[in-house]
Amino acid sequence: MAVLVTGGAGYIGSHTVVELQNAGYDVVVVDNLSNSSEKSLQRVEKLTGKSVPFYKADILDRGALNSIFDKERIDACIHFAGLKAVGESVQKPWEYYENNISGTLTLVDVMRKHGVKNLIFSSSATVYGNPAIIPITEECPKGQCTNPYGWTKSMLEQILMDIQKADSEWNIILLRYFNPIGAHKSGTIGENPNGIPNNLMPYITQVAVGKLKELGVFGDDYDTPDGTGVRDYIHVVDLAAGHVKALKKIEAKAGFCIYNLGTGTGYSVLDIVKNFEAATGVKIPYVIKDRRAGDIAACYADASKAKKELGWEAQYGIEEMCADSWRWQSNNPNGYDD
Ligand code: NAD
Ligand code: UD1
Repeated sequence: MAVLVTGGAGYIGSHTVVELQNAGYDVVVVDNLSNSSEKSLQRVEKLTGKSVPFYKADILDRGALNSIFDKERIDACIHFAGLKAVGESVQKPWEYYENNISGTLTLVDVMRKHGVKNLIFSSSATVYGNPAIIPITEECPKGQCTNPYGWTKSMLEQILMDIQKADSEWNIILLRYFNPIGAHKSGTIGENPNGIPNNLMPYITQVAVGKLKELGVFGDDYDTPDGTGVRDYIHVVDLAAGHVKALKKIEAKAGFCIYNLGTGTGYSVLDIVKNFEAATGVKIPYVIKDRRAGDIAACYADASKAKKELGWEAQYGIEEMCADSWRWQSNNPNGYDD
């Protein structure tokens, strides 16, 4: 099976290309490199020993997409391409709705015109809002998002569900990711945020490498065991493997399915600091700050549906997540600019 990976030069995309090629899939990548570097794909090629056909193109560019589909054999699409910075989405809602929603509509239209009706979409636990049930099952009702980024995911889920409902030839799987961290064991590919990181693990690794002075812990008065926010961190290589399993489900005619991809275990901010220090031997100075607007107390998955239906469950624990994040950051203090 040949797979078009949109956003394949990015953090989760590049790790997924490694797993796909290792599993024997043919891969083609399209990415506009707005938040990534082509170097990630060169490093993927070194890891897998296979070439990665790459098109630098925007998924909003219908002509470019048409010519990729005309030229390449494509049986399915794993769709990572999108803007993902929560704070920026509040400042630039039009850009987020245009890129993520119009981009996906364009992609889906080009796919159907080429008779390709197999799609895996990157959704997020953010669609649950402040979750009604913890651990969160896929049955948990969707909630109010606190930012335009989250709404693009929630709206796209609805759009894709309606498209599959209207045309049962489509196989569409929505994967709701919890909090991806970690990096490939080789330390050659990893997360490469622009500017000061918003997410916890890249912030911690930049403190560890000396680029940032100390971690600000956003609130210690939540209703959680130590008062700091609890999340379900998942190793990016496990997440990537989940896409390979989802593809197998697509090959067996999935219809429309939704899966949480998480470990099922919640860790607080201070748990992560302690585990990072234990795994790496590097001390992380921190100060307690006010809560961050839009944050919730706790968010972790019930991941049993993916285990039962996809035969997937996370293999890596928090120690590997911390050690692998650190190996990537310490080997590449400036990401792909090194
Ligand atoms: P990333 O920014 O590293 O990767 C996204 C890639 O898409 C980038 O390489 C970027 O250049 C590309 N891209 C963006 N807009 C494009 C466009 N219009 N045309 C072509 N390429 C475009 O992000 P990531 O962390 O790898 O996330 C991948 C997907 O997973 C995104 O859709 C994101 O919203 C979703 N997601 C991520 C997380 C997370 O914590 N990282 C959590 C839940 C969901
Ligand atoms: C955030 C986004 C979510 C997105 C996800 C992955 C919000 C409200 N949610 O999730 O939509 O899908 O990133 O990109 O932004 N923390 C600190 N100090 C820091 C950074 C984070 O204490 O410098 C805390 C947070 O308060 C939270 C935890 O660490 O309790 C994890 O934060 P983060 O990595 O940003 O992920 P989420 O907030 O879960």
